[in-house]
Amino acid sequence: MIGRWIRRGYGWACERLYREFAWSYELVSRGVSFGQWDVWRRIALDEVQQQGAPTQLMLEIGFGTGALLAMARRASLPVVGLELSSQMHAVASATLARQQLDAPRAQGTAAAMPFADQSFNVVVATFPAPYILEESTLQECARVLHQYGCLIIVGLWVTPLICGRRLHIPPVYGAPSPAQQARVERLLADAGFTPMTILRRAGGAEVSVAIGQKGAVSLHMDNCGAA
Ligand SMILES: C[S@@+](CC[C@H](N)C(=O)[O-])C[C@H]1O[C@@H](n2cnc3c(N)ncnc32)[C@H](O)[C@@H]1O
Repeated sequence: MIGRWIRRGYGWACERLYREFAWSYELVSRGVSFGQWDVWRRIALDEVQQQGAPTQLMLEIGFGTGALLAMARRASLPVVGLELSSQMHAVASATLARQQLDAPRAQGTAAAMPFADQSFNVVVATFPAPYILEESTLQECARVLHQYGCLIIVGLWVTPLICGRRLHIPPVYGAPSPAQQARVERLLADAGFTPMTILRRAGGAEVSVAIGQKGAVSLHMDNCGAA
């Protein structure tokens, strides 16, 4: 019962942070991660590059303040962004303008994306809100990906490591239970992906990376994005 109220309060506070307090999102995320949020975000780009799709078109959904869009553009990766919140759009525009960078961006929900079928090689989401595991979102991700494209979701769970011990502070930090991990993989499979979960160590934490490859070719993801 108390757990449910804490989760509801946390969800409500997050919504405020994506909307009227979007201007403070970077400060808050840096604060709660002891400055590691960008290090954890960067895992998404490392993963895109490891999956062998570095020069192909990437879509970032829920791009928030635009920090990963900027990182991708600095690395010369072609990227398009989709974000629901108009306040986050304003923050991202300022982030990119400050760095004299740009990336095409659309406002809308990941549950009904304004893109044609098979438009992207990779779809990426970092620290996504609960929308990411909704059936409509996962189906849209599968629709906009090329035949062998892949979906990379970074940070569904983050577990800080303190002196080698895992720190659990629900609902913010913690490791997934086998049942939670299995649920994510089942949802990805239901949307037509071959799922895989890995844990990456970076910035003093274990960060979960859920990968769904479209077109069940190989569990090693060698073909990811190579359509
Ligand atoms: C936790 S923030 C993550 C932001 C950024 N990716 C990061 O690494 O910090 C989640 C973002 O998803 C956006 N969002 C929530 N629901 C969405 C939806 N249905 N479609 C697209 N974006 C959504 C929110 O506005 C917010 O900017």
